[in-house]
Amino acid sequence: VLLEALFLTVDPYMRIASKRLNEGDTMMGQQVARVVESKNSAFPKGTIVAAFLGWTSHSISDGKDLEKLPKEWPDSIPLSLALGTVGMTGITAYFGLLEICGVKGGETVMVNAAAGAVGSVVGQIAKLKGCKVVGAAGSDDKVAYLKKLGFDVAFNYKTIESLKETLKKASPDGYDCYFDNVGGEFSNTVIPQMKTFGRIAICGAISTYNGTGVLPPGPPPEIVIYQQLRMEGFLATRWQGDVRQKALKDLMNWVLEGKIQYHEYVTEGFENMPAAFMGMLKGDNLGKTIVKA
Ligand SMILES: NC(=O)c1ccc[n+]([C@@H]2O[C@H](COP(=O)([O-])OP(=O)(O)OC[C@H]3O[C@@H](n4cnc5c(N)ncnc54)[C@H](OP(=O)(O)O)[C@@H]3O)[C@@H](O)[C@H]2O)c1
Ligand SMILES: *[C@@H]1O[C@H](CO)[C@@H](O)[C@H](O)[C@H]1NC(C)=O
Repeated sequence: VLLEALFLTVDPYMRIASKRLNEGDTMMGQQVARVVESKNSAFPKGTIVAAFLGWTSHSISDGKDLEKLPKEWPDSIPLSLALGTVGMTGITAYFGLLEICGVKGGETVMVNAAAGAVGSVVGQIAKLKGCKVVGAAGSDDKVAYLKKLGFDVAFNYKTIESLKETLKKASPDGYDCYFDNVGGEFSNTVIPQMKTFGRIAICGAISTYNGTGVLPPGPPPEIVIYQQLRMEGFLATRWQGDVRQKALKDLMNWVLEGKIQYHEYVTEGFENMPAAFMGMLKGDNLGKTIVKA
């Protein structure tokens, strides 16, 4: 099949993966594409797929590793959501919060990069489950968006005087769950405020991805030990098959029911992939960063 890219995603992990690339290599990444010519009856012309085809406007495939979007994909929902809230970043939020953190109603959840693709879904699922949610983001507009989404407390981590005091004020009793997208010094401030038996989902560490020097030290062991914390790293790819399909269905239904809102930060033009990528790393985006080919 000959495929034409419709929407492409740029994601933080590409910053880490790109360190291993040489000049002339193709950047990795997922896209939503349309079959424009076909010699494969399983993927007739017009079929819409999601696939890891890299930063390419057109590709040729034998059909292996192409994932068809569900036939019942509603007209009201953009196809690009298959790269975000009803795709990889939604899955990350879903399993990170529900399986790795194992949140229960009534608990208090902290999430950073909260206005981004993963963080905004984490906060909304936590609210659906009856939690109190505290979110950190890098601009006042993002903070306003988080409040619109129903976050109980949201703050701009770039303008507050003290992260420690802000967290204390937001939840004087501490935190049951910390969904960490940022890592580094930020985490070393959050972790001492975890409650006993707190759970920490290590989803990402974007504050460290662009660095070349020595990494900041991790959280103090005496806090992890005496507060009996559990920290676990995870990858969204861990959940495959039926559990993944069930999660995608839940996410789609929540979107259709208006229980989860989505925002996409769309850049037009395939040639603008690098600019969109670098902009996302700097925090230009509200919600999921998408490039429309
Ligand atoms: N484990 C997995 O399988 C998996 C899957 C997907 C994503 N992730 C991770 O999840 C995190 C979020 O990914 P995403 O796709 O949802 O991206 P995103 O949040 O939509 O975009 C990245 C955001 O990170 C924030 N940021 C950048 N540098 C920062 C810094 N030094 N300190 C604090 N915040 C910073 C920026 O927002 P501000 O304006 O708020 O600074 C930026 O908008 C990343 O760490 C990513 O690697 C993990
Ligand atoms: C990443 O590092 C490079 C080189 O030091 C710098 O030019 C760039 O602005 C940095 N990007 C971010 C998002 O901090």
